Amino acid sequence: MLSLIKNRQLVNSQLFINGHWISAADGQTFDVYNPFDHELLGKVADGGVEETEEAIVAAHTALASWQALAAIDRSRILKRWHNLVLENQEDLAILLTLEQGKPLTESRGEIAYGASYIEWFAEEAKRVYGDTIPGPQADKRTIVLKQPIGVVAAITPWNFPNAMITRKVAPALAAGCTVVLKPSEETPFSALAIAYLASEAGVPPGVFNVITTTQAAEAGEVLTSSPVVKKLSFTGSTAIGKLLMKQCADTVKKLSLELGGNAPFIVFNDADVDAAVEGAIVSKYRNAGQTCVCANRIYVQEAVYDVFVEKLKVATDKLRLGSGLNEGVNIGPLINEKAATKVEGLVKDALECGASLELGGHRFYSGSLLYLPTIITDARFEMKISSEEIFGPVAAVYKFETVDEVIRLANNTDAGLAAYFYGKDNALIWKVAEALEYGMVGINTGIISDAAAPFGGVKQSGFGREGSKYGLDDYLVTKYLSIKT
Ligand code: SIN
Repeated sequence: MLSLIKNRQLVNSQLFINGHWISAADGQTFDVYNPFDHELLGKVADGGVEETEEAIVAAHTALASWQALAAIDRSRILKRWHNLVLENQEDLAILLTLEQGKPLTESRGEIAYGASYIEWFAEEAKRVYGDTIPGPQADKRTIVLKQPIGVVAAITPWNFPNAMITRKVAPALAAGCTVVLKPSEETPFSALAIAYLASEAGVPPGVFNVITTTQAAEAGEVLTSSPVVKKLSFTGSTAIGKLLMKQCADTVKKLSLELGGNAPFIVFNDADVDAAVEGAIVSKYRNAGQTCVCANRIYVQEAVYDVFVEKLKVATDKLRLGSGLNEGVNIGPLINEKAATKVEGLVKDALECGASLELGGHRFYSGSLLYLPTIITDARFEMKISSEEIFGPVAAVYKFETVDEVIRLANNTDAGLAAYFYGKDNALIWKVAEALEYGMVGINTGIISDAAAPFGGVKQSGFGREGSKYGLDDYLVTKYLSIKT
């Protein structure tokens, strides 16, 4: 099926180190499958410790000349990269759907979203401002410089195989850093295609390296223990984030961690229920529910509970499952068997604990990774579905009575990535917006993703921000000069 890709140069299956496509030293490869039909898409080089070390050396060697470039020159290269991504949008989207499964319309959207980070940071590259501060004495001057932190390691997930890469690599490159990327082994083709386009745009050898590997622990150990790597940016599970954080302690690396979420989606009595249903559909079912910012717990106030559930059922029932390549499909497969089994387990637990099944509740057919869009009502705090990240197309709906009660329930989690609520009263909006312990809050909207906004969490959802004017800071260090005149 990779034959569907028109620009054949986008299809690469080797490691990308120092501007060269290379095989693993031991010749090992791993298989990449289409999660929809389990078709083998291709074999990709399986790098390990040796190749990761090689990539770090390449990134280190390339650092001096890349950071010495004028910001405007780095900006121009990033702009060319952005343009090339958009010129290849359709091919990149097909590649993404083939290895990840999401519907083609969503893949096209992700390519545009991913490109928007490159464009944003191409602009921000020119705005790395320092400061002047009044000196402590008449003959002293204090100047603040912002400088690139150095070699960056980026570890990215399979759920957004394109955009999670660009929103780390683009700010790193804009700041003058060089990068070693380890993408998910489920979706290496998108990573290699984006690296190819970066190189075509003029990103010099060694500035952006890609290690494809099934040996995530070993590669992670090399990246986190290397004194040359000055920063790690990771998007993925909270458990792995904690491990990486520990591993980075010995070399005191700067970290950005975008970890798991458990988003509350609250509908108040005065909400526009139709708008809330529309928001819930996009927030819950985008990418088959496999986003860190998906609505995980849908709290509906009692006066609108029945009407909301009814309308949600009608809207959910219209969603079509199937191959992401087929026109009209809204929900593709889950990424792998482990993910499907987890979703099944959460639904089973909720039903055993007294929840009611309103829609779905099983796979499309036995053995398939397609899971029917599902609605569960009468959900309660004690159920696993309330404390775990579902990462599947299952909407769990809870009833609540008061504003204070729902704020308490919404905050009763270690996660703090995204939250959403729908309501009209101005005082209520401010009260809830300020009380929610989350890094991002969607108010009367189910979509919060935007390159111009700071994406990131609080509590155990991590720290650091991606996108926006804050996103560059994560790749910079602050130095001050005290000058005696
Ligand atoms: C994520 O799921 O981690 C990213 C979602 C987004 O950027 O919209």
